[in-house]
Amino acid sequence: MAKSPSFTCTACAASYTKWSGRCENCGEWNSIVEEKPLTAGPSSKSLGKARGRTIELTDLSTKETPPERTLAGVDELDRVLGGGLVQASAILVGGDPGIGKSTLLLQAAARFARNGLKVIYVSGEEAAAQVRMRADRLGLTESPVKLAAETNLRDILTTLDAERPDLAIIDSIQTMWADHVEAAPGSVSQVRTAAHELTTFAKQRGIAVVMVGHVTKDGQIAGPRVVEHMVDTVLYFEGERGHQFRILRAVKNRFGPADEIGVFEMTGKGLAEVKNPSALFLSERGNPAPGSVVFAGIEGTRPVLCEFQALVAPSPHSQARRTVVGWDGGRLAMILAVLESRCGIPFTGLDVYLNVAGGLRIGEPAADLAVAAALLSAREDATLPAECVLFGEISLSGALRPAVQTENRLKEAQKLGFTSAIAPTSAKPVALSGIAVRQFDDLTGFVSDVFGAR
Ligand code: TYD
Ligand code: MG
Repeated sequence: MAKSPSFTCTACAASYTKWSGRCENCGEWNSIVEEKPLTAGPSSKSLGKARGRTIELTDLSTKETPPERTLAGVDELDRVLGGGLVQASAILVGGDPGIGKSTLLLQAAARFARNGLKVIYVSGEEAAAQVRMRADRLGLTESPVKLAAETNLRDILTTLDAERPDLAIIDSIQTMWADHVEAAPGSVSQVRTAAHELTTFAKQRGIAVVMVGHVTKDGQIAGPRVVEHMVDTVLYFEGERGHQFRILRAVKNRFGPADEIGVFEMTGKGLAEVKNPSALFLSERGNPAPGSVVFAGIEGTRPVLCEFQALVAPSPHSQARRTVVGWDGGRLAMILAVLESRCGIPFTGLDVYLNVAGGLRIGEPAADLAVAAALLSAREDATLPAECVLFGEISLSGALRPAVQTENRLKEAQKLGFTSAIAPTSAKPVALSGIAVRQFDDLTGFVSDVFGAR
């Protein structure tokens, strides 16, 4: 039998059979730790006494299908959860320390409690008095949420068993300690055991369990990635420290669409919903400048407009820099290569900086055209019209591929006062009053039309 891998990367959960200083999967240094087998476990030859129960698929009542859901009454949260909190589910909320996970979950706990759920908030990081102080600041002291400051997993499960809540929040999974596992709290085996037991408990007792997981850079503490596969829903709370915007993103959801985002703003009194994120992401936009373009994107089920900013300057270094914030570096390299080989516009010897304004992270390939336009606009020092939005995916051949939800993108642009759009040619003609759409088959056509003959 093949020996199972016993080394795990605490940052990305990749498994290895031997230790190394750097994780080949995520590139993190010193993040690989040895993982001790949890228990010897019975050999597969000795079968369990209790017979595994099976049910005929046809015996399952079809009436039972939709799982019961409870709305928080906070649209930005309910949408990311896939339409409310699902009973008997396990949810992981990951994010950098200090980004606002505890604040978000305390506010959510209060909302769900107000909507009739019995909620327990277990803090392994703060004393009950500290949680109470935070609740004070958030104006939630009247909410019927029960607090517990505890780290022992067995005690927590006993409490949950006795109290029978509808929702339990565990803040954080890295502070939980299972006394039957010989490893320090925060280690891969402790974090996995705690997540596994809490998830199993959630399924058996029909309660929803939300676990907080800090994204760690320190190899000693396991990050949330090591438990992502065990839970039903994985949400990440993201944002730039300097910005007040926070984005809750569903990266996995058994009960709803992944990639859905909820947008919040961190205020002095906790997190506030942002109902119109496009207006927020464009709010810092000044006069049109070279390198600035507006991308009409789709995040989950919702159109979101945002600004791409590019700066292109002669490089003083022997190897030119490529710096990206809010977008994929590999994708930038691809666009630069396509611009060079298909349109004959080289970026050799030029430093390239690309940024998505407002701390948003874009993963959609439909942003390609906006990125190409921002790069060209910066390189040529040519400003694009301020009232124009762009979208479209670029293939390696330089062709523009139609994007999904063209109409929704255009409608959002129209709502925010944009009057023109540049998009790929689509099979169905697009027409929307008040917005002039120019469509192109390929990048070369777009470049010569918008930036002049080359
Ligand atoms: P917190 O929820 O403790 O972060 P996490 O649990 O992800 O580690 O949030 C901490 C930050 O949020 C801290 O820097 C202070 C800020 N904050 C506010 O700006 N307003 C508030 O009302 C609260 C409660 C926190
Ligand atoms: Mg916290």
